[in-house]
Amino acid sequence: MSMTLRRLSRAATAGLVAAAALTAAAHSAEAADTLGSAAAGQGRYFGTAVAASHLGEADYTATLDREFSSVTPENEMKWDATEPSRATFTFTSADRIVDHAQSKGMDVRGHTLVWHSQLPSWVGSLGASDLSTAMKDHINGLMGHYKGEIHSWDVVNEAFQDGGSGARRSSPFQDKLGDGFIEEAFRTARAADPAAKLCYNDYNTDGVNAKSNAVYNMVKDFKSRGVPIDCVGFQSHFNSNSPVPSDYRQNLQRFADLGVDVQITELDIEGSGSAQAADYTKVVEACLAVDRCTGMTVWGVTDKYSWRSSGTPLLFDGNYQEKPAYGAVLAALGGSGDPGDPGDPGDPGDGTASCTATYTRTADWDSGYNGQVTITAGDEPISAWTVTVTLPAQQSVSSLWNGTPTWSGNVMTVKPSWNGTLAAGASTGFGFTAAKNGSDAAPTVGTCTAS
Ligand code: G3I
Repeated sequence: MSMTLRRLSRAATAGLVAAAALTAAAHSAEAADTLGSAAAGQGRYFGTAVAASHLGEADYTATLDREFSSVTPENEMKWDATEPSRATFTFTSADRIVDHAQSKGMDVRGHTLVWHSQLPSWVGSLGASDLSTAMKDHINGLMGHYKGEIHSWDVVNEAFQDGGSGARRSSPFQDKLGDGFIEEAFRTARAADPAAKLCYNDYNTDGVNAKSNAVYNMVKDFKSRGVPIDCVGFQSHFNSNSPVPSDYRQNLQRFADLGVDVQITELDIEGSGSAQAADYTKVVEACLAVDRCTGMTVWGVTDKYSWRSSGTPLLFDGNYQEKPAYGAVLAALGGSGDPGDPGDPGDPGDGTASCTATYTRTADWDSGYNGQVTITAGDEPISAWTVTVTLPAQQSVSSLWNGTPTWSGNVMTVKPSWNGTLAAGASTGFGFTAAKNGSDAAPTVGTCTAS
């Protein structure tokens, strides 16, 4: 949709959006029984990353629409998606997410304008002066298209190196434009959409450490010199190697004390069960303890589509069942659906057996490949599972191990051989060898069902 058309269309749907927002407000007044309404009761938003390609899946959209009050396009606003060749902007997928969010009364976070990754190769080949122009044109192109429609933009993402140096990360922007590119990006962004909050966003900056100190010093410098910056995003991707830091709240607070908002922008915590739930509680409590922590975003709706799907880091499992972490977040937000409430589907102890299945290609050669399907039990122990795998029509399976297949055309239904019994959150899997017969496409794994 062109910029002009987008604004016209937005004006035309304004009544619809207002009606949706009213419905959401009425809902939140009734009972804070969803993440979005409970967070609203605390004066915060509760968002999720969204992929346009999943919006056609009914369970995905139902969960999204019911639970969340803000969305962040997971990949669709990145440079490679929006300006794949110079001055040719494509907004189809991003528009789809923004239109969906607006029709449901949800806010939108913009992610991200200037980042070293998912950057088309043409950007890296420009000389310094051309690169500076291209960076400003890109910011103006995106922010102009969505002017007035984005509550916060990640203007610059991940510009600092990991490790103890506190140095800037090498990138076309850093290497050719020097430290000043960040300031230049923020000044351009302010002029492009004065209503949007302008954020710097990074990972491994969640606790006090050399990297967060470097970001802190940059923000302090920006504030002292009047460079426009409104917020700092803390991605908060946690796992056993990178746990929730004990000084998380203090770190958020010291940034807030510089006069910026703080936001938790890409939260996910690998794990399962009560340990994962306890970690989520820590994060929510830290945000709520900091007045200027204005909202939280989890990095996806369901474990099955997470960028770290094998670590099951999100609040809903692959069957959109609430995990213990969901109940913990809702409770920490002051919501009414405490974990273990009778009748709360997906809560531990409710007796609902569930599982998820994920596929990876583990070996590949000219004429064939090996595939592995990993089955993970949900919040209850299970004694059996069933998964369907649909193969491209040309392909045929020559052997399968750790599972028992039955066939209908090119669909194989696999049940356990010896490995049906799984503890809550535990995994098993089966493998198979397939002949490509001219098709290298991946098989499709259907929903996992358990008993
Ligand atoms: O869409 C294509 C598909 O057509 C193709 O068949 C497939 C083959 O690999 O790739 C698909 O694109 C992938 C895309 O995700 C959509 O699934 C890309 O390869 C893959 O690189 C991309 O990963 C994204 C990653 O950023 C890239 O850096 C993740 O989805 C996204 O969650 C992740 O998000 C980042 C934040 O933007 C910044 N902070 C870290 C965070 C996690 O890495």
